[in-house]
Amino acid sequence: MTDPQDAASIDKRVVGETARRRTFAVISHPDAGKSTLTEALALHAEVIDSAGAVHGKSGRKGVTSDWMEMERARGISVSSAVLQFVYRDNVINLLDTPGHGDFSEDTYRVLAAVDAAVMLLDAAKGLEPQTLKLFDVCRSRGVPVITFVNKWDRPGREALELLDEVEQTIGLRPMPLTWPLGIAGQFKGLIERETGEYTAFTRAAGGATKATATVVDAETAAAQEPQYWSDAQDELGLLDEIGASWDEKDFLSGSATPVLFGSALSNIGVARLLDTLVELAPAPAARPDSEGNDRPLSAPTSGLVFKVQAGMDKAHRDRMAFLRICSGRFERGMILTHATTGKPFATKYAQSVFGSERTTVEEAFPGDIVGLVNATALRPGDTLYAADPVEFPTIPAFAPEYFAVIRAKDAGKYKQFRKGIEQLGNEAVIQILRSDLRGDQAPVLAAVGPLQFDVVTTRLETEFNAPVTLDRLPYQVARLTDAEAEVTLSAQSECEVLRRDSDGEYLALFSNKWRMDIIRKKFPDLRFEAMPAGSTVS
Ligand code: G4P
Repeated sequence: MTDPQDAASIDKRVVGETARRRTFAVISHPDAGKSTLTEALALHAEVIDSAGAVHGKSGRKGVTSDWMEMERARGISVSSAVLQFVYRDNVINLLDTPGHGDFSEDTYRVLAAVDAAVMLLDAAKGLEPQTLKLFDVCRSRGVPVITFVNKWDRPGREALELLDEVEQTIGLRPMPLTWPLGIAGQFKGLIERETGEYTAFTRAAGGATKATATVVDAETAAAQEPQYWSDAQDELGLLDEIGASWDEKDFLSGSATPVLFGSALSNIGVARLLDTLVELAPAPAARPDSEGNDRPLSAPTSGLVFKVQAGMDKAHRDRMAFLRICSGRFERGMILTHATTGKPFATKYAQSVFGSERTTVEEAFPGDIVGLVNATALRPGDTLYAADPVEFPTIPAFAPEYFAVIRAKDAGKYKQFRKGIEQLGNEAVIQILRSDLRGDQAPVLAAVGPLQFDVVTTRLETEFNAPVTLDRLPYQVARLTDAEAEVTLSAQSECEVLRRDSDGEYLALFSNKWRMDIIRKKFPDLRFEAMPAGSTVS
């Protein structure tokens, strides 16, 4: 038994450590500068010697694996790095999200593990399609969003116009905290809205060194840049008039977003973003369990698995589950219980994952991410706990809209094929459906976006040495149904019923929405339940 005094001091530590945590993800359209920003953030925190150790883009050192090569070639990023660093005595956990909407299910899972998101906009492009989709996911999860307008060093749109677009398109009221001096492409510095303090930046070449920041008094700044200074003052006056001021309640409720301007490449505004995260973003809070009761932060250890990934790089062919700590103190070696099966789970091999580097984690607190190696039994959405049982709500599977039958090209490789399919299903890379009619040799893949098929075929080929053929099926709509409906629905044309591997649910697939509506009208008593849609996450 733990001494009550020890228990009280552990509780106190948990509360104190949790208050220092900030766990967030960056959402952006590919090319908006997410990798550059991530590197610049880490550079400010001085956890790496020079920019480039976080992500593996061409010419940069980082994570490598076969399928990541494919992602990079296509400008997409499926796999994630988790980055932890200390900034102003706060522990920052930065989780990467896939940039492409076809992987919105994966993004949704990552966003289940964060307390805030940074929405990164390209100053020249504003809200781009993937940003919109990813923002929808944030909204559906109630994640507060900080907006960073990037690439202000390059010609782009007007600041007020960008703010207007954010408000009009996604209904998020912008609350700029800083204001740029100089139009996009003529970036001179940043004015603090609350204090009026002006910081001039001398740009550094590349992302490897910080830009030099100098606080300049208003008179000097006005004399140096008369036109830009007076324009900025006019704009600031306008912002005050329309009441675009900081409001914590609106930020936390997801109806308003603090906005910052900067250039990740020149390291301008990046420290300000970190300050904003530390000062304004919420620390981890008690998480509701599946019954809606909050698990207090100081309750015994618990965590949510939000991602499972194998073969993250060639040197580590193992399978890792990423656990977000939700309550209590995690200590390596502790035995947790897997809520789904009730089985014990040993945490001897707990690691932190930083790009391709891994280090052993000895302890962790709410908000931290722990990588659990060889976690074969764990799936995204699972709960692990110590002592008091708890189960957090599972992460729902999205409605698939693309379907294909997959088969091993070479019958001799069937064993590898089966193993690979099972593995990818467990990682929730794609949904796997089966029916007696089709047999185990030809499962059906169900995807939210077609790029998921490419990830599956590439990984089966490269990791499992199982080349495959894929035949697309003419279905576009899926609904949850049940065993009773199976016989009736299977007898209809342009309709097929299959069972999902992950949860045993029956899915009825239809050629299109009209066909589904006709069948539904014919059998109004059968179960036709919609799933959340990846494209619109309602
Ligand atoms: P991503 O992860 O969101 O896909 O974007 P990434 O950071 O790779 O940035 C995309 C491109 O935008 C890169 O240029 C990068 O250097 C540039 N970039 C990012 N932030 C800024 C910024 O603040 N200002 C300017 N001017 N450019 C920025 P690239 O030429 O495509 O790649 P690279 O060869 O520089 O890596």
